[in-house]
Amino acid sequence: MPKLIAPSVLAADFANLQRDCEMLNRSDADWFHIDIMDGVFVPNISFGMPVLRDIIKHADKTIDTHLMIVDPDRYVKTFADLGCDILTVHYEACTHLHRTLQNIKAHGMKAGVALNPHTNVDLLKDVIQDIDLVCLMSVNPGFGGQSFIENTYSKVSELKELINKKGTGTLIEIDGGVTDKNAKQLVAAGADVLVAGSYVFKSSDQEKTVKELRELANS
Ligand code: DX5
Ligand code: ZN
Repeated sequence: MPKLIAPSVLAADFANLQRDCEMLNRSDADWFHIDIMDGVFVPNISFGMPVLRDIIKHADKTIDTHLMIVDPDRYVKTFADLGCDILTVHYEACTHLHRTLQNIKAHGMKAGVALNPHTNVDLLKDVIQDIDLVCLMSVNPGFGGQSFIENTYSKVSELKELINKKGTGTLIEIDGGVTDKNAKQLVAAGADVLVAGSYVFKSSDQEKTVKELRELANS
């Protein structure tokens, strides 16, 4: 399977969201990465359902939704009804993670689990068979444009080893500070999906940046 690129819409121009969605549709991007923040789990608020509805209206690719919110079960049905394809919850925000994953799947979505930089991948050992995607945070969640945390490489390798040992086929996604400087090494360590916000949207030719990042990840 090719390595995938998921540009983070958080870094788009919110006054020109339709334009930026259409750019991603035309580009080599595989998924739309959508960051939902509640101002409680993370010290920032991004956007909510009305904005997500309009993004989905203009997006014609997989909608990869990253919930940085407490008690995400409250909104699983809402995100399913809006048309999300993948719903990722934070390990640190779920008391009953197994139940939450079943809930996401029962609503027809793929189930993802995100880990903060300090959270050890071994904590997923007894639930990895129920996870379609693990999102390893390579920055502390809450903001775009932060620097990549180097310790992520070893977490990717450890997680890849766990997935291979259990034979689950779970995808590994990396989120935060991804650029052309770390993409190749992340893929070499076992990453399948690279999220990139600022690196794509702050570049002068966004479509070209997506294309080059995807080529680099698959070279
Ligand atoms: C951070 C978000 C990321 C963010 C990535 O909390 O989960 O998806 O948008 O942005 P960059 O690529 O700029 O670090
Ligand atoms: Zn994210």
